[in-house]
Amino acid sequence: MRRAAKEIVRVEGLVKDFRVGLGVRRKRVLEGISFCVREGEIFGFVGPNGAGKTTTLKVLMGLIRPSDGTARILGHDVRETEFRRHVGFLPENPYFYEFLTGREILGFYARLSGLAGRRIPERVEMLLDWVGLSHAADARLRTYSKGMLQRIGIAQALVHDPSVVFLDEPMSGLDPIGRKEIRDLILRLHGEGKTVFMNTHILSDVELVCDRVAIIVRGAIRYEGCIAEFLDAGELATDLVFGRLPASLAVSLEERFGPLRGQGGRLELRVPDKAVHEVLGLALSADAQVVSVTPHRASLESIFLSAVEGSAEAVAGKAS
Ligand SMILES: Nc1ncnc2c1ncn2[C@@H]1O[C@H](COP(=O)(O)OP(=O)(O)OP(=O)(O)O)[C@@H](O)[C@H]1O
Ligand SMILES: [Mg+2]
Repeated sequence: MRRAAKEIVRVEGLVKDFRVGLGVRRKRVLEGISFCVREGEIFGFVGPNGAGKTTTLKVLMGLIRPSDGTARILGHDVRETEFRRHVGFLPENPYFYEFLTGREILGFYARLSGLAGRRIPERVEMLLDWVGLSHAADARLRTYSKGMLQRIGIAQALVHDPSVVFLDEPMSGLDPIGRKEIRDLILRLHGEGKTVFMNTHILSDVELVCDRVAIIVRGAIRYEGCIAEFLDAGELATDLVFGRLPASLAVSLEERFGPLRGQGGRLELRVPDKAVHEVLGLALSADAQVVSVTPHRASLESIFLSAVEGSAEAVAGKAS
């Protein structure tokens, strides 16, 4: 029997209020959120700007205190410090002293993390190689591109070989090539058995790398679960396009599945997934020409937008 994966992060009823307006008023930013991250997964914490992702991460990193609720990492309350040696962190807008070189900054963080002096040079070279920056090791950070800085940021988070890595918007502000490089690094971390928690609002990256997600909107979790199940919670239908369709078959298909849509000499029909095999069989035996078969899934984006508009409960309910 497969053992259930260990819980690496457990957040329970987390509330965060900030004081605003000279400290007189309170603004509730986290409304009592709960979720968990399991060992070895790439977990996407997804939500629009201002949803509360960074605030949650700051609580997890022990940088701010929650107003209520608990957060545990590796079984430890986040107010403890000892377990942090197993945790790596890339902040949202990392700032690095720009007159240092890539090699110098990683050496600095290696010393800061308490790595034994004799092990530092080897570790730094290994990290530079790992993030593909060996060629720029002696260039000052002020000459680095945004993508290179982000990769140095990830190397910095890995300096002490943590088992859990927290990344706040690791792909934001990068071009498609830079994003792919970071995605590949995240997948490699996953391949090495590390648990990755990433905040993001870039939905295509979520679809490409995350195993599970929690969707946060205005301080409340709207969905937590597998990304594949989340996408399947949309309409399970397939669009079939025919180039040639005998009239008798067209009539019987329209009776069952509704009107055929025609354009450019082609006929398109949306059928439930469970009927696709049967309809294709009928079409082929009637000598119809099948041009394309395209699964129609509610995209993460459309579900995300409906979540933002406050109507995602129904979708989340269907998926969980
Ligand atoms: N120190 C603070 N004082 C008052 N309000 C704050 C403070 N920090 C964050 N907020 C507010 O809390 C809300 C959530 O902010 P947070 O930075 O967690 O969002 P986010 O999901 O990370 O957004 P983004 O995608 O833009 O990074 C926002 O409305 C923000 O203005
Ligand atoms: Mg943020």
